Amino acid sequence: MSTRVIVTGGAGFIGTLLARRLLARPVTIADGRPAPVDELVLADLVAPPPDVAGDPRVRAVTGDLAATAGQLGEADAIFHLAGVVSGAAEADFDLGMRVNLDGTRAVLEHARRHQAPPVLVFSSSLAVFGQDPARPANPGGPAGTVGDDTLPRPQSSYGIQKFIGEQLVADYTRKGFVRGRSVRLMTVAVRPGKPNAAASSFVSGIIREPLAGLRATCPVPPGTPGRAVLAAAAPCRGSCAPPPSATCPGQPDRDEPARARHHPPAPWPTRWTGSPATPRATSSTGPTTR
Ligand SMILES: NC(=O)c1ccc[n+]([C@@H]2O[C@H](COP(=O)([O-])OP(=O)(O)OC[C@H]3O[C@@H](n4cnc5c(N)ncnc54)[C@H](O)[C@@H]3O)[C@@H](O)[C@H]2O)c1
Repeated sequence: MSTRVIVTGGAGFIGTLLARRLLARPVTIADGRPAPVDELVLADLVAPPPDVAGDPRVRAVTGDLAATAGQLGEADAIFHLAGVVSGAAEADFDLGMRVNLDGTRAVLEHARRHQAPPVLVFSSSLAVFGQDPARPANPGGPAGTVGDDTLPRPQSSYGIQKFIGEQLVADYTRKGFVRGRSVRLMTVAVRPGKPNAAASSFVSGIIREPLAGLRATCPVPPGTPGRAVLAAAAPCRGSCAPPPSATCPGQPDRDEPARARHHPPAPWPTRWTGSPATPRATSSTGPTTR
């Protein structure tokens, strides 16, 4: 019996990493036995990178998911990753609704027509959480500490679209159309390449940009719980060259001890290609969720 997997958003950041993993080693789908993937369908607006596209088991379906869902064929497992990230969904309401909501429904409807209900993994987000009006003085910040009993209160178009997607996955599962799982991903760092339109893009930026010799700005206001964690994750100043390049406005030295703990014992891992005059790479501001 052959194993078929579909990844929507298969040319994106997580989709590409997932595709490489699926091709590299056997996978276990639900209660099945480990088996190599025989066919991997990657659906995206753009083609997957050459190393993935060149694998004979890969079939790329390129185009808008709403139009191409019918070309995906049947699969044992579907990873639904195609989406418009938080900042873009907030900036363009219609785009967010079309891709994050209508696209998810198109994938679910395609899965529903399978002969046997596939496992369907939906990439949701911690953006489904938000301020709890019952706990206005929550010391944990806007979202507070998220536990298993924290109720979703999305406060962005993106968060609401992801939450609706979760509910649809739950209902299609209840009806026996799919075997659904929704995963509320946190910010996945460090994303390579340029900053993207996610509101949390700066989290990758404060690590990635300094490693490339660029400056980055952490937009999280001083005093925000958790900000020290972000600063601690950034490359240290110590005696490293280049000079400090991840800064949090207003309180540049507050996290110096935390940064110092990150002083690498080995030489700086990437070649210094920029200069202090390199233009700042600024990140989007706003909610810290994707
Ligand atoms: N990366 C994170 O930190 C993070 C955190 C929480 C949730 N998520 C969610 O996980 C999923 C994958 O995230 P990512 O970081 O890989 O994002 P990404 O932007 O790198 O990948 C998304 C892919 O979806 C594709 N896409 C967009 N619109 C499409 C359409 N209409 N039809 C077909 N393909 C389309 C894009 O071309 C892109 O390649 C997204 O749904 C995102 O909302 C990601």
